[in-house]
Amino acid sequence: MSQKVRIVSVQAEAPDIKSFILESADDKPLAGFEPGAHVDVKVDDGITRSYSLINTTEYPHQYHIAVKREADGRGGSALMHTFGQGQHLEVSEPRNNFPLADPRGRSILVAGGIGITPIYGMAKSLARAGEPFELHYLARTEEVAAFVSALNDEFGDRLRPAFGLDASRVSDYLGDVLGAAKNGDHLYICGPKPLMDLGRDLAARNPALTLHLEYFSADTDLDALPKGSFQVKLARSGRTITIPEGRSIVDVLADHDIEVETSCEQGICGACLTKVLEGTPDHRDMLLSDEEHAANDQMTVCVSRSIGPLLVLDL
Ligand code: FES
Repeated sequence: MSQKVRIVSVQAEAPDIKSFILESADDKPLAGFEPGAHVDVKVDDGITRSYSLINTTEYPHQYHIAVKREADGRGGSALMHTFGQGQHLEVSEPRNNFPLADPRGRSILVAGGIGITPIYGMAKSLARAGEPFELHYLARTEEVAAFVSALNDEFGDRLRPAFGLDASRVSDYLGDVLGAAKNGDHLYICGPKPLMDLGRDLAARNPALTLHLEYFSADTDLDALPKGSFQVKLARSGRTITIPEGRSIVDVLADHDIEVETSCEQGICGACLTKVLEGTPDHRDMLLSDEEHAANDQMTVCVSRSIGPLLVLDL
């Protein structure tokens, strides 16, 4: 369900990062959320982008997001950066693929670059609850990192800035952090894919840790993957539709007036998750875990395809 909002404040947080505070534009209260949640913002016709919520439920009448302008992006972030106070937008209700565990021990929060956005909200929530955490903030330089002084003010020595490290020092740094983790600790990472992959590899060596990941952009070159044709059978109507080479399931279903909710269309937000009743998906998302992929009982129909000739979907 979409919500109408108005931008009430825009703030430059770093050379390429602006933050936006959104409030309801029609006097209906905004839907609530938990730390780690994101909203999908309709930036323009056909352009929807997912942005994590920075604020926590102490300000339930606002959504606070931050947007990094991606020089080689697909235009959504650049358009967001042109918007000012008073601009009206549509946003989805918040969705959360990255919740804080419950119950949890100590939380080790790791943010890379603009990946600070969900991590910031989680840290606020943990600080307010008086729960133990440490926040490791990695960025190319301090100058390009958003919210540094606010994070310092709010979290003091729980903030561990790690700016300007090259790849091998990032690996050493994270290795030391995770090597010191204790039984029951939870590790949350949001950042670019190489950082997430590194965190996943390092965490696998420490069984004391429970790992939680949030991807904020799809780095996989989906266009480089094979895209052969297959058929999709829709269990509710019995219709069978051919998905040709080079086209996504959602696009072809839309041609047949079958609408599936989507947002990122990159396999990262979960809006299009669909139950698989038969067949084996060729998973290409960055959302589901390895275990969820292996179960083959759900798939992101915006990017994932089929290994066999037929998929039966709960549509
Ligand atoms: S639309 Fe976001 S995962 Fe499919």
